[in-house]
Amino acid sequence: MTPGPTYIAFEGAEGCGKSTQAERLATRTHALLTRETGGTDIGARLRSILHDTSIADMSTRAEALIAAADRAQHIDQVVRPALTAGRSVVSDRSVYSTLAYQGYGRQLDVGMLRDVNDWATDGLWPDLVVFIDTPDDVIAERMARRHLDRFEAAGREFHNRVIDGFRTMAAADPDQWVTVAAVGSIDEVAAQIEAALTVRGVG
Ligand code: TMP
Repeated sequence: MTPGPTYIAFEGAEGCGKSTQAERLATRTHALLTRETGGTDIGARLRSILHDTSIADMSTRAEALIAAADRAQHIDQVVRPALTAGRSVVSDRSVYSTLAYQGYGRQLDVGMLRDVNDWATDGLWPDLVVFIDTPDDVIAERMARRHLDRFEAAGREFHNRVIDGFRTMAAADPDQWVTVAAVGSIDEVAAQIEAALTVRGVG
């Protein structure tokens, strides 16, 4: 990887620890920490619609487009300006969450979602994706303890498809994707991430 600002996304299931690890990396590398959805004021409003458990009949295309709208605002207002100013960006979720959740999970066409999101991002995709791969039983146990939002309440099969989607994308592009097993302490997982990024000349 060439030196210069890097756009790194953290991906994985709910409760996998990616938010903690994204924060650790951003602090260590002085990168800008941000998130999708909800990384802007407009995004926060869109996020509250996406997560609202009182909405039972959201169309899956509407769901995908709301996530894409959040992303368009986030890229224009936060991500691209930071990179242009020479600052690296660490984002808790990215376009790859749409491919995993709305594509593999909700079973919308992944190629179409790539095209729509390529437009939404004006072609700005993460340079690197850190995928925190959590054992299935650990996810199930953690989710049982949380208040469930629209996505968390979507059921076991949906979440299995989402995780399989992340694993498929990671396996298809090992240069872009770093897979780290979420096994061990926060420090141990952070050390694995640091080692994997150092090999790639990042962080
Ligand atoms: P989190 O921000 O707490 O990780 O939760 C975000 C939820 O939104 C999670 O269930 C995944 C979902 N999501 C999508 O379905 N599509 C997307 O494009 C993004 C960014 C998130």
